[in-house]
Amino acid sequence: MGLREKFGRSLRLGMVGGGPDSWIGQMHRGAAEMDGWFRATAGVFSSDAARSRAAGVALGLDPARSYGDVAEMLKAEAARADRIDAVAIMTPNDTHYAYAAAALDAGFDVICDKPVTHDFSQACDLVARTRNQGRLFAIAHGYSAYPMTRHARQLVREGAIGKVRMVQVEYIQSGLATRLEDGPQNSRLRWLFDPERSGLALVMSAIGCHAQHLASFVSGLQVARLAADVGTLLQGRKVVDHVSALIEFAGGARGTFTANQAAAGSENDIRLRVYGERGMLDWSHHDASYLKLALMGEPARIIGRGDTHLPPDIIALGRTPRGHPEGLREAFANIYAELAQERMARELGEPVAELPYPRIEDGARTMAFIEACLASQAQGTWVDVAKLPLG
Ligand SMILES: NC(=O)c1ccc[n+]([C@@H]2O[C@H](COP(=O)([O-])OP(=O)(O)OC[C@H]3O[C@@H](n4cnc5c(N)ncnc54)[C@H](O)[C@@H]3O)[C@@H](O)[C@H]2O)c1
Repeated sequence: MGLREKFGRSLRLGMVGGGPDSWIGQMHRGAAEMDGWFRATAGVFSSDAARSRAAGVALGLDPARSYGDVAEMLKAEAARADRIDAVAIMTPNDTHYAYAAAALDAGFDVICDKPVTHDFSQACDLVARTRNQGRLFAIAHGYSAYPMTRHARQLVREGAIGKVRMVQVEYIQSGLATRLEDGPQNSRLRWLFDPERSGLALVMSAIGCHAQHLASFVSGLQVARLAADVGTLLQGRKVVDHVSALIEFAGGARGTFTANQAAAGSENDIRLRVYGERGMLDWSHHDASYLKLALMGEPARIIGRGDTHLPPDIIALGRTPRGHPEGLREAFANIYAELAQERMARELGEPVAELPYPRIEDGARTMAFIEACLASQAQGTWVDVAKLPLG
């Protein structure tokens, strides 16, 4: 009998943010419910209480569980026999820390969108709360949950390319290629262009965090030192739209990092190349279902999602036969599925496999990376990246 059958029900999810107007809200809802691991059961969808309740009803939730604010939801749900199991947070960035801390303290697991907090110290606090409360905490780094980025990670761990020597990662996008801040403002643009609300460096909050996480996730290496160029490519802009960095990983491997949102003509162009002593791996988001493995002295191989020779745990991350497109929603669903499996296994007292979904410790490392980029720019030199105090 499978884990969910033994558990006897889907997990109940409370959503925070991601109202009907937000595309990432639809991504989270669709991903959480895709395989039946979760059912969206309760939620808060706006900072305005009346709008929030109306949005919950419009999304098909029980009106009694369409709440006016987060404190109300956590209190009411904690008191129910059929309480939610987890809280998914996809609000503007400046609210993540307070909502995540409150959800953990109320006894719920958390799935939080990035950046998890404003800074490293808040993220370390969430690491401690997650551990102290015995909760689970996932971060929505979807790119690390595609079958082929997972397979790349496995290949590196198995030594297929030998010891890693160099990692190149980039996330290039045109989201800030025009002066959106000078045009008509909506609530999204207002918080995005306010550095107090969007984070220490907007391009890192928006996309750079994904690239940094992906590089470490696949290579298995943490960044030890870096020298960064942090800036703004459109004159007069107040938020950061470009970060590039030279990287030294623990153990000595080197790398390059680029995150840019002012690249006119670009879409969500993510590319990761990992070079080892025997060969290299090359993954591009535009061809997310494929992975190139090139070993010295052998013809290069293109490995595809659904290839029958792949390990069962990698095959299980895909849902449609090879050649039919899958995407970011399915990758998000893999994160929700893994957190649910870990929660159900823990509740059932069954052994818990080591599942690779992004966790709060990864979020804290990202915040340390961002702070190091800013410190490097300010000091004009290489800087060490802070390590997690709790290991
Ligand atoms: N993981 C990813 O790939 C990815 C992609 C896009 C956005 N995001 C993240 O999602 C978050 C939201 O981004 P967005 O572009 O959807 O923003 P948005 O402004 O378009 O949407 C925010 C949503 O949250 C609601 N909201 C605002 N304040 C709230 C509050 N206090 N309580 C409850 N609901 C509230 C709004 O009504 C809206 O529905 C950001 O943290 C962003 O970084 C992640």
